[in-house]
Amino acid sequence: MEQGSNEVRRATTTRRTFLGRGLAIGASAGVLGTGLSIGSVAAAGANALPTQASSQARAGNRITKGDAAILRFLAALEILESDLWQQYNELGGVQDSEVPGGSGSQPYIEKLQVLDGDMPQYIHDNTEDEISHFTFLNAYLVSKGADPVSLEEFRTLSGSQATGAQKDMKRLTNLMQLTVDTSWWTRYRSRTGNPDLGDSFPQAIPSLFNGKFPAIPRTDDDLTPDDHIQAIANTAGFHFAFIEQGGTSLYPSLAQRVTDPEVLRVVLSIGPTETAHFQTWQDKAGNAPALTDTTNGLVFPDLNSPPFGGEDFQTNLIMPEPTFFLSRSLPPVSIIRPTETKGAAMGALKALTDDGLFIGQSPQFFAVLKALAFAADAAERRP
Ligand SMILES: [Fe+2]
Ligand SMILES: [Fe+2]
Repeated sequence: MEQGSNEVRRATTTRRTFLGRGLAIGASAGVLGTGLSIGSVAAAGANALPTQASSQARAGNRITKGDAAILRFLAALEILESDLWQQYNELGGVQDSEVPGGSGSQPYIEKLQVLDGDMPQYIHDNTEDEISHFTFLNAYLVSKGADPVSLEEFRTLSGSQATGAQKDMKRLTNLMQLTVDTSWWTRYRSRTGNPDLGDSFPQAIPSLFNGKFPAIPRTDDDLTPDDHIQAIANTAGFHFAFIEQGGTSLYPSLAQRVTDPEVLRVVLSIGPTETAHFQTWQDKAGNAPALTDTTNGLVFPDLNSPPFGGEDFQTNLIMPEPTFFLSRSLPPVSIIRPTETKGAAMGALKALTDDGLFIGQSPQFFAVLKALAFAADAAERRP
């Protein structure tokens, strides 16, 4: 990968604060104390330099360059996940000492609760989990003498101006122009297809994949008419599952190239929590009411009726159907899909970019994220 290495290097010099106001919970003094920048992390990744050891490193307690690169990429994505979940929590979740910030949007919450009465609690808990993921991964990296990740210099995007959001807080991600890929719905219901065997899958909500739609109210003008704010809540419901199915695949995909047994334990212990999230959100998305948003033409069809319906669309099928894995000559098995390791990090970054999450971000942001993904994908398991 040749892109952006100069830009990455230019970004290396400034000491950056580690956490934004909304993500201060769970910060570890060890992480805050290092003052290492994303730029040096990315430059090291892009140029395959040896891992820089911090002053806290203990001899014999290092991890391989590849393991550090995998953990750094995961930490970066967890920071981005935390940022997007934080925005959902401010408007649709529970704001408390565990996940502070914002004061909720009652009209938005009421529409989310059409999917499940417990949505605010689940949004809160998913947000807290993501904050804990990046905080732990960064602290673990530091404990192994490796650089943690910070994306604070890219906290530049304006967020929702609706009542309940922290209107002045700058964001890393954009939840207001999403193009949500809903093929995970049919991918996990298919009994014959597997993306790792080259198969592709139809969209559950074709309309969501064909335009740019908000998943949070952008202003209070989005709170009416009724079908519009319900469509925004429905979009969020499908987006929650899109995000978490990504983590569900990414962790096992990258785990295959981890060297150190303890790093493998870290990856194998965090990854399934993403699956717990995905499973929950898949169930809730199935409760999104069929409707047409007359303000923008977004259609949520009845997934239980033709031309939908059947096992590939039926809304109460929320567990992974057995399908082919590794070879079509082996019996079908209920599995996470995809789990191909080659190019997994770059694939995850592309999926999030295509989602519209980074609309408005700078070329430097993409350069740094690509460098981190490239380094993770270059990691090899050592005997
Ligand atoms: Fe996570
Ligand atoms: Fe997640």
